[in-house]
Amino acid sequence: MDDSGTTEALIGAARAAMENAYAPYSGFKVGAAVLGESGRIFDGCNVENASYGLTVCAERNAIAKMVAAGDRSVKAAAISASSGEAAYPCGACRQVIAEFAAPDVRIYLATNEETVVCILSDLIPHAFKL
Ligand code: THU
Repeated sequence: MDDSGTTEALIGAARAAMENAYAPYSGFKVGAAVLGESGRIFDGCNVENASYGLTVCAERNAIAKMVAAGDRSVKAAAISASSGEAAYPCGACRQVIAEFAAPDVRIYLATNEETVVCILSDLIPHAFKL
């Protein structure tokens, strides 16, 4: 679904969004980007809160942007973290990605070395559906 130029753009958007992360409590910055069905890329970063549980992850912020802009389908996603290592999405974010993505959608995990490529259904094999 996504060509290599688009994948590079997606990973670049996740890396750039990571720089804007608001993570004064954990110090762990995360950036995410999703490719919508319109071909547009939507980015997000983690936004922490002094009341820790109100923190919102980068992936869910990117998806909220996509939905607000009118797209409804995630064709690919990328995640970047300040650790420089592959940051696998948390369980909540996996479920939210699954709401808008087909099981075979690729998730690119950027690292300081090479990009790790995952398939959504490997990360969340039995996503909750109504
Ligand atoms: N975080 C994300 O942004 N995405 C995830 O999938 C897991 C965790 C953020 C939340 C918090 O701001 C920081 O990483 C440390 O948990």
